[in-house]
Amino acid sequence: MNEFLWVVYPYLCLMVLVVGMLSRYNYDQIGWTSKSSELLEKRLLRLGSPLFHWGIIFVFLGHVAGLLVPIEVYRSLGVTEHLYHMGAMAMGGLTGLMTLVGLLLLLWRRLSVRRVLRHTSGGDWLALLFLIATVTLGLLMTLVYNVSHLPYEYRTTVGPWIRGVILLHPDAALMAHVPLVLQLHILTALALFAVSPFTRLVHIFSLPLAYLRRAPMQYRRRTPAPFERARRDEGI
Ligand code: HEM
Repeated sequence: MNEFLWVVYPYLCLMVLVVGMLSRYNYDQIGWTSKSSELLEKRLLRLGSPLFHWGIIFVFLGHVAGLLVPIEVYRSLGVTEHLYHMGAMAMGGLTGLMTLVGLLLLLWRRLSVRRVLRHTSGGDWLALLFLIATVTLGLLMTLVYNVSHLPYEYRTTVGPWIRGVILLHPDAALMAHVPLVLQLHILTALALFAVSPFTRLVHIFSLPLAYLRRAPMQYRRRTPAPFERARRDEGI
């Protein structure tokens, strides 16, 4: 079972992610969008969306620092275990909470605004469900488990395991004694990767770089602005 969960299952999810993304790109480029619903409701979106997006960007950077940078690098820089975990819990806790509050606001918006609800697809629910589950489990680990127990040293277990997955020689034994909440967090995150090609999350891979080189666009009002009307009346 351990081998299945930490060797087979991660590659199954990553395979669905890669093949799913490639085939969606091939067959559904028009549907490759974040499906903005800004025109349907702005007030809650203006608060929920930046909270979620900024939160998740910092959570992502935290994962890179905590999981991809080996613990030896921190030790050689003189960063003690205590200092590392205090920093990780403070930053991770804050940015994780931002992400969760943003997600809950976006969920509330989807449920409470009829027009948004009517434009919500199965894929949108799937993405929200897996995002909320993954983020909640991550936060439970950082803010509940680590506070009620000693901070868990994932840099000697989960860190080497995930680097093994990336380098194609994962060691399932590293994950055998990881706390259950963290195991569930990682399994849910992998499931999120697998469902993402079938949802609006495809937009993660679209950086609108063409915008930077695009010719400027002019927007004109359909009805003349007051100063234009005044000019016209004065015959200028
Ligand atoms: C396989 C991929 C992932 C691994 C191995 C992983 C691992 C971890 C680890 C080790 C922690 C720290 C737990 C602690 O403080 O003791 C954590 C926390 C967290 N994770 Fe993940 N995670 C993954 C994917 C994700 C994804 C996709 C998301 C968001 C959708 C996410 C969101 C969070 C959040 C919000 C926290 C709490 C805040 C923080 O400490 O950064 N994780 N995760």
